[in-house]
Amino acid sequence: MAKITWKAGTMLYPLPAVMVTSGTMEKANIFTAAWTGIVNSEPAMTYVSIRPERFSHALISKSGEFVINLTNEKLLHAADFCGVRSGKDTDKFEQTGLTKAPCAFVKAPQIEESPISLECRVVEVKRLGSHDLFLAEILAVNVDDSLLDETGRLALEKSDLVAFCHGEYRKIGAKLGKFGFSVEKKKSRKQRIREIKTERKARKAARRNDAKKIEKPVETKKRKQAFDKPVRRSAENRAEKDSFNTERKPRNDKKFDGKQTGYKKSRPEKENEQTGRKSFDKPLKNKSFKHKPSARRPS
Ligand SMILES: Cc1cc2nc3c(=O)[nH]c(=O)nc-3n(C[C@H](O)[C@H](O)[C@H](O)COP(=O)(O)O)c2cc1C
Repeated sequence: MAKITWKAGTMLYPLPAVMVTSGTMEKANIFTAAWTGIVNSEPAMTYVSIRPERFSHALISKSGEFVINLTNEKLLHAADFCGVRSGKDTDKFEQTGLTKAPCAFVKAPQIEESPISLECRVVEVKRLGSHDLFLAEILAVNVDDSLLDETGRLALEKSDLVAFCHGEYRKIGAKLGKFGFSVEKKKSRKQRIREIKTERKARKAARRNDAKKIEKPVETKKRKQAFDKPVRRSAENRAEKDSFNTERKPRNDKKFDGKQTGYKKSRPEKENEQTGRKSFDKPLKNKSFKHKPSARRPS
């Protein structure tokens, strides 16, 4: 492989293509920026490099605040538009149909449709040449809660973020590895099982919590009482009832001759003419008998 050397240039890709909001809820602006990144973790710090002629430059210089809104595929058309039209003569919120949402720490609005919005306060402005670098502290991160999975982890892969790469917008591709994978020791089977189990437990707990949230308060119906008042039976009363039980009549008192003990005996016996053996008529199991009288049973 042979490399050729070019003159200095901004050939560092991929970069984010974020939408930076500034101003106030009443008078807000959006501009697209690729010259942005993270420069410190504690405190969390970022920067945006802005050409002094941008309308946003004036707004951010005045307020000392801005919001970085990450761009996904759904927002890409609007992001490109905000990067080629100026807020000097265009209301970009109105033109793109994006929604302003208030922030917790800054007066500038965040874009509701953006999956993640970072509230920032400028700590320093550095003149570099073509651009001014606005160094800022990240005060808060607003995350679309639909990006959180069952365990509460931020599933950023669900957000379809886009990148800016050499003059083009690009989809972010498949996962290739995770931070530190190159030095990671192979986990033992036991460790993997333990991890899966704890993950499952956390997911179950999260689901249970969700279910509790959805559960409506149960209307407590007054249970119907079997008796208005518990009646204490007197000896007399008991005797009366018991005598009634013994006097119970058979269901079909016509057929009942006092000797019958069961159903079989109540069935009519039939004598076989040749053998002289007695047998019972087989009861018909067919329920449709009533409607279709068979030849065996004259109606
Ligand atoms: C993908 C993309 C990235 C851009 N990045 C920057 C940037 O980092 N800094 C900058 O000053 N302008 C950048 N621009 C240009 C501004 O977004 C553009 O000039 C915009 O119209 C300025 O809006 P404003 O005048 O309302 O502030 C970029 C434009 C696009 C499309």
